[in-house]
Amino acid sequence: MKNNKHKKLKFPKGFLWGAASAAHQVEGNNIHSDWWHWEKCGRITPSGEACDHYNRFEEDFALAKKMYHNAHRISIEWARVEPKEGKWDEKEIEHYRQVLESLKRNNLKSFVTLFHFTLPKWFADKGGFEKNKNLKYFIQFAEKMAQECEGLVDFWLTLNEPKTYALAGYTAGMWPPFKKSLFKTYKVYKHLAFSHNQIYKILKGKYPKIKIGAAINLPAIHFFGKPFKSFFEQLFAKLSNEYFVNKIKQNLDFFGLNYYFLIKGLGSHKIGGTDEKEIKKIVVTGASDFGWNFYPQGIYEVSKKLKKIHKPIYITENGTSDPNNDKRSRFILDHLEWVHQAISEGVDVRGYLHWSLMDNYEWTFGYEPKFGLCAVDFETQKRTPRKSAKLFGKICKDNSITA
Ligand code: BGC
Repeated sequence: MKNNKHKKLKFPKGFLWGAASAAHQVEGNNIHSDWWHWEKCGRITPSGEACDHYNRFEEDFALAKKMYHNAHRISIEWARVEPKEGKWDEKEIEHYRQVLESLKRNNLKSFVTLFHFTLPKWFADKGGFEKNKNLKYFIQFAEKMAQECEGLVDFWLTLNEPKTYALAGYTAGMWPPFKKSLFKTYKVYKHLAFSHNQIYKILKGKYPKIKIGAAINLPAIHFFGKPFKSFFEQLFAKLSNEYFVNKIKQNLDFFGLNYYFLIKGLGSHKIGGTDEKEIKKIVVTGASDFGWNFYPQGIYEVSKKLKKIHKPIYITENGTSDPNNDKRSRFILDHLEWVHQAISEGVDVRGYLHWSLMDNYEWTFGYEPKFGLCAVDFETQKRTPRKSAKLFGKICKDNSITA
């Protein structure tokens, strides 16, 4: 990269700036979901009231606006909207319409995810995304939401991080439904891609102007080693992000990129394409409090790779857990410097949503990790912007960084 020291780096006009969230992580009392069920069984940390965002969304969006954000990512909780099979809860649908109206009033462009890891318990009980015959329920939910929220959503995201979901729930057995089967993982993965494609086709047919993407987590990958050959190795390769992107790339108006870290080491050079000498040169710049490495250059590397699919890119997540807030500002600046570099080399990145607006329920890790631009006191629900929130706010306001 050019020497950017103390240089002002401008982002393109109309660039979107904001933060991202997911319903189960912030809303609280998501009682009809599969996660809630397992939390009550004592198998995973309870989410409880979370950030009580369900009741405090007005306050939270006002805060985002005050910090000069012009976009925000939420998810609609399917378990609220359809708590029992085929029974739509009109009150909850109205709730989400109000949430979306509030985003509009605060001049925040909306990114809305339809599936961010949690499912209605009834759908999970039927076998969830494992079963081909269940996919129609998710597709119906997407159609229902598009119809009910017509004109209120700027960017739809069908799915969040299909690979994380499939691996955590079906390979590692760490997340609901706690299974450990590579075959089931692959099935779920394939079914998620199929659902995305169907939803895209149906909704674009009905609402040609609608914008639909998916949020995919692409780590920077540098592997070396022999190509995968055995049956299991090849099955594993099918779980790669490339496989998923290839399956859905015809059906995307934009690409939602979640970027967090670098994976390097032994593996198939077919995936990473880095040789042994090169890999030694790849260094990380630090680590979060729970061990995720910082590799800001990776956001550039993966964005550049995405250039070949010719879609606008929005960074739909990037962030770090940093309870003392002594790393987040640098983290943001370093990543944005590399985003800027990608843009200057012709990559069409149009927005950056930081994960997350405030500390929240970090899945099985509970409330320990602190990903928020704002700290949350979970006793009082008071939100306090951290220093890095102010820095980020200034970036949003100026549409530029000083590297
Ligand atoms: C997920 C978020 C999560 C974040 C930090 C992403 O993989 O989409 O839900 O909170 O990472 O772990």
